Amino acid sequence: MRPKPELTSVVQQGQISRLQTSDSGESLALLKGFELQQRERLQKLQAELDSLIGLHSVKGVLGEIQAFALIQKYRAALQLACEPVVLHTVFTGNPGTGKTTVARLFSQMLKEVGILNKGHTVEVERADLVAQYIGQTAQKTREVLKQALGGLLFIDEAYSLARGGERDFGKEAIDTLVKAMEDQRENLVVVLAGYPAPMEEFLEANPGLRSRFPVTVTFPDYSDLELFKIAQSMLERREYTLTTSAQLELVRQIRRLRQGDPESFGNARAVRNMVEQIIRRQAVRLVQKHGLTKEELTLITPYDLRST
Ligand SMILES: Nc1ncnc2c1ncn2[C@@H]1O[C@H](COP(=O)(O)OP(=O)(O)OP(=O)(O)O)[C@@H](O)[C@H]1O
Ligand SMILES: [Mg+2]
Repeated sequence: MRPKPELTSVVQQGQISRLQTSDSGESLALLKGFELQQRERLQKLQAELDSLIGLHSVKGVLGEIQAFALIQKYRAALQLACEPVVLHTVFTGNPGTGKTTVARLFSQMLKEVGILNKGHTVEVERADLVAQYIGQTAQKTREVLKQALGGLLFIDEAYSLARGGERDFGKEAIDTLVKAMEDQRENLVVVLAGYPAPMEEFLEANPGLRSRFPVTVTFPDYSDLELFKIAQSMLERREYTLTTSAQLELVRQIRRLRQGDPESFGNARAVRNMVEQIIRRQAVRLVQKHGLTKEELTLITPYDLRST
C-alpha cells in the first residue's frame, strides 16, 4: 500500500486537481451573466427584507441560507463537490411576528438563487390538507403539493395536523407530505409555521419530521420601540404623518396593548389593526369638513388615537 502523502504537501504541489479551474472559463462566463441579472433582483428583495423593522436574527439566517445556496450553485457550475441544499424550514414565533411576510420573501429569494423555479408561496392550514372522509386526505394533500411545486409550501399551525392523535386523518397528511419531500427533493421548500411551544411539542412527537427540517428560524416578539417603528412605517407607506403628541399617545397605547395576555398579544398584527383604526377615526374627524388640504388629509392628531 502506498503511504498517504502529507496533506500540506499535496495542497502545496497543487495535486488536488478539482480545485484547478483553468479549464472552466466557459462556465465562469455563464456564471457572470447569471450573476449580474440575479444580483439586481436579489438586491431588490434584500431591500424589502431590510425594510422590515427589527428581525435581526431572522435576516441573519436568511442571509446565511442565501449565501450557502448561491455558493453551492457556483461550485456546481465549476464542477466542484456540492453540499445537498435541503431548505425545509421551521418558522416559530408568536402571532404577528412576521412569519408569513418573511416566508413570501424567502420563496422569491430561493427562486433568485436557483433553488426554486417559480418562487410562489402556497399558504395552507389543516383544513386545506385534511379531508373529512377516509382515503381522501392523501389526495387532498397531493393536490396542494402539486400547486406548491416550484415554490414554497407554508403550513400554518402545522402542529394541528397531529392534534387528533393516531387515528386522525392529519397523520395521513403528514405521511403524504413526508413522502413528497423524499420523492421531490428539488424544487419544493416546505415551511412549518406556528407558535413556539406547540411546535416544539409537535417536533418532539415526530422525530422523523425534525430531521427533515434542518433549519429553524425563530421570530422574537417585537420590542415597544420596534412596534412603534412598525406603526410609523405602516402610516408613512399610506402617506399619513403623526403629530408629536400623537406619537406620544401611540407609544402609550402600544405599551397598554402588550399588558394583556402575552401568548395572544398580536405584535405587528395588533399594530396593523391599530393603524387601520386610527385611519378610520381620522376619516370620521374629517368627513364633514369642506375644502380639505393635503396637510389635513395626511395629519394624524391625538384625537384620532383616542380610546373608545
Ligand atoms: N418587521 C416588520 N416590519 C413591518 N411590518 C411588519 C413586520 N412584521 C410584521 N409586519 C406586518 O404585520 C402584519 C402581520 O405579519 P405576519 O402576517 O407576517 O405575521 P405572522 O407571524 O404570520 O402572524 P400569524 O402567526 O398571526 O399568522 C403584516 O401586515 C405585516 O406586514
Ligand atoms: Mg401568518
